[in-house]
Amino acid sequence: MKKTFYVSTPIYYPSGKLHIGHTYTSTLADVMARYKKENFYDVFFLTGSDEHGQKIEQKAKEQNKSPKEYVDEIVLTFKDLWEKLDIKYDRFIRTTDEDHIKAVQKIFSFLLEKDLIFLSDYKGKYCISCEEFLTFEQMDKDFVHNVCKNTAIDFQEETYMLRVSKFQKYLQDLFKTDFLEPESRKNEMLNSFINTGLEDLSVTRVSFKWGIPVLENDKHIIYVWIDALSNYITALGYGSDNTSLLEKFWAKDSEILQIVGKEITRFHSIYWPIILNSLNLKTPDKLLSHGWIISGGNKMSKSLGNVIDPIELLKKYSSDAVRFYIINNLPTDKDGEWTEELFIESFNINLANNIGNLLSRVSNMIIKYFDGLLPKKEVAKNNYLVKIGEETIVNYKKFMDKYDMSSAIKEVLKLSQECNKFIEDTKPWALEKENKLDELNEVLTILQKNIIIISYLLKPILTKSFSSMIEQMGLKHQEINFDSIEKNNFNYKKIIDKLVLFERIKN
Ligand code: MSP
Repeated sequence: MKKTFYVSTPIYYPSGKLHIGHTYTSTLADVMARYKKENFYDVFFLTGSDEHGQKIEQKAKEQNKSPKEYVDEIVLTFKDLWEKLDIKYDRFIRTTDEDHIKAVQKIFSFLLEKDLIFLSDYKGKYCISCEEFLTFEQMDKDFVHNVCKNTAIDFQEETYMLRVSKFQKYLQDLFKTDFLEPESRKNEMLNSFINTGLEDLSVTRVSFKWGIPVLENDKHIIYVWIDALSNYITALGYGSDNTSLLEKFWAKDSEILQIVGKEITRFHSIYWPIILNSLNLKTPDKLLSHGWIISGGNKMSKSLGNVIDPIELLKKYSSDAVRFYIINNLPTDKDGEWTEELFIESFNINLANNIGNLLSRVSNMIIKYFDGLLPKKEVAKNNYLVKIGEETIVNYKKFMDKYDMSSAIKEVLKLSQECNKFIEDTKPWALEKENKLDELNEVLTILQKNIIIISYLLKPILTKSFSSMIEQMGLKHQEINFDSIEKNNFNYKKIIDKLVLFERIKN
């Protein structure tokens, strides 16, 4: 039976257009989904939109639209962005989807019946912008939320609460595993929320209407987080008549990866495992909580007004270039800067100078010295570059399997540098002058083989350029996968065109 892999992004709020921070998470997920497919996994990749809540209700009112009219328009811009960035998901779930609404009501009723949800009076501080109840650690003395810099409001009303406190021991045990990464985030959750004693969570509201009604008490709207978190299973058919996807992808032996930004780690590492545990479903294998894209020292966010519009960026640069920067330059365990200067610099150094140059030098030499087609040649197994090529595949896989995409890509870039150095060392032009054609053929065959490796390992990232890259090495419509790449007995065709890939960006 095929192995299965399930990967999700957060479902984004349609309270405005998406910015480069959102594309970060989606690109990570997309690259992982594509990598797993190359490894013969059956993959399900989920993304979507989180459409309920007070903030959306307010935004719609400002524009004189019904909430549904308002979100329908914004969701189109989400889908357009994912298409332009070549993000290929299997389902785009909207929390206004009929099947999701029904399933969320079922989940709520089930938890209520098990007495894991109870009616109470709650008093606390609430951040409308983040749809989050805040603890004192999350605010300054004037109650300004340290993430979005909005002032939290006083909140007191009748609400249903989730008995989070009952799960103290369960969470302490869960946090002994490596379910949440990186380690720093794990410690933060333990220190700020778990070890200080877990508090019950308000999960319904009566002060606004735009949300899923509680069946048992329609004065109450199911508050965004139970609604939102449930999307990961309702998208697979939880609570519907057809649960085949759920049985396949949320199964014990299915690999489940959830990727989120650090500000919503609390919901995904504390409340979500509690809900899953209550429903008798497994906890995801990994919650990868990445850092922020910052700009001028602050998180890039709509409410701070320091955002970069990815659509504008994609008018100027290719999706491959944007995807490359995200994966290569923004390691998930830290915050990362996004500036156009850094973006251009990284493109020019890595894609134009290192890889692009290598590709065009080698294909030009194959055309010039062998009329576009190298005679078949067994290369020496002990050649150091052949060995480095093979090791690169192993190291790349090792990092990718740990979801460390940024380190994986560094291995590929190193191989490309080695190839460029190999050209300088072996001097193919001199071999040609001395008429050492057999040796020349061997050098170019080794380079060609390694460029195929480089291109293939970059395939999940450079989705648009991949076929041109291998075409430039004489491969067209060939099945390349992790098995065939090691054997490398491809059917090469004559290289005719001199393609220019990754042309330097002038700044
Ligand atoms: N709707 C909730 C998520 C519910 S998931 C069950 C939400 N939506 S959001 O629109 O605010 O998107 C948050 C996500 O966008 C973050 O978790 C992160 O994945 C991404 N990012 C938004 N701004 C970001 C940066 N500046 N940097 C990196 N990622 C950020 O929260």
